[in-house]
Amino acid sequence: MDTMHAVRAHSRGGPERLTYETAPRPRAAPDEVLVAVRAASITADELTWDATWTDSFDGTGADRTPIIPSHEVSGIAAAVGPGVTSVAVGDEVYGLIPFTRDGAAAEYVSVPADALAAKPAGLDHDRAAAVPLAALTAWQALVDHASVKAGQHVLIHGAAGGVGSFAVQIAAALGARVTATAAARDRDFVTSLGAERVLDYAGARFEDQAGDVDVVLDLVGGRTQERSWAVLRPGGVLVSIVSPPDPERAAEHGARGTFFIVEPSHDELGSIARLIENGRLIPVVDHVVELADTREAYETLRGEHQRGKVVIHVPAAP
Ligand SMILES: NC(=O)c1ccc[n+]([C@@H]2O[C@H](COP(=O)([O-])OP(=O)(O)OC[C@H]3O[C@@H](n4cnc5c(N)ncnc54)[C@H](OP(=O)(O)O)[C@@H]3O)[C@@H](O)[C@H]2O)c1
Repeated sequence: MDTMHAVRAHSRGGPERLTYETAPRPRAAPDEVLVAVRAASITADELTWDATWTDSFDGTGADRTPIIPSHEVSGIAAAVGPGVTSVAVGDEVYGLIPFTRDGAAAEYVSVPADALAAKPAGLDHDRAAAVPLAALTAWQALVDHASVKAGQHVLIHGAAGGVGSFAVQIAAALGARVTATAAARDRDFVTSLGAERVLDYAGARFEDQAGDVDVVLDLVGGRTQERSWAVLRPGGVLVSIVSPPDPERAAEHGARGTFFIVEPSHDELGSIARLIENGRLIPVVDHVVELADTREAYETLRGEHQRGKVVIHVPAAP
């Protein structure tokens, strides 16, 4: 049996369950690409999701352990399964791996071909791995769910975070006027991403400062979401990635509310890659760790302020 180095958890729990060890090397099944991983990035919350540990999406609830975390990948196609035409061996690819299967904290991972796209030219693997989840979420919120148009006024809550830092840049690239909420220490950072105005979320109420808004992008939830109806124009839309907006509140304000969960998309990763190649979208990496140090990286991420993604660098297997 071919083997590889990987980070795995053999039973459900937090980062303390993650072990750097030798594991079986996967093979590319039909319609899949075996990726030699060069970088992966961390979504700390994934260790708390049922989908990470059980086959919750297919309804069986079967235990999936041992699992491999970290579902954003950048690497090189090492083999392609039957039926794959979009990727050839040797191509540099990046993508979001469905959370219901093994992730990329390993030397190899097999990924459905339609979850991958060509890595943005000129971007190294570490920075490419910081892109898929957050950029796809921001893209799907603004383009698919809010249909943002040039000239519209967009309010983005949580603008300095992983999703927010992409959302500000994508909204600005679409020609929207962006007002953002963020911590006071992140004002200059969020302004540099393209926000016209940055409001301190711990300062004066955003309702008193934002003015009329066409689209609210809620990356925070709770009271921030509830308070946001007050700034929406009639006919406006509140898109949340945290919790479903209350339909009664939406109706009271003549607005629309929607919630969604990000999905892998070959085509949208391609559009995002074009924005990166044109210099309109710059991935933000907080710091890079080695594969063997993945557990410590998950541990320190609990509750810590970060700007952009924490990336796992994976050296080429011998
Ligand atoms: N539905 C989906 O498909 C999907 C996809 C990705 C993420 N998510 C969820 O979306 C949320 C955001 O994800 P993320 O990766 O961007 O998180 P993140 O990197 O932790 O960023 C959150 C940001 O929000 C800021 N913030 C906290 N309280 C705020 C407030 N009251 N007003 C404005 N900003 C505030 C934080 O600032 P401080 O650092 O100062 O606290 C931080 O900059 C998470 O709950 C995540 O689980 C959902």
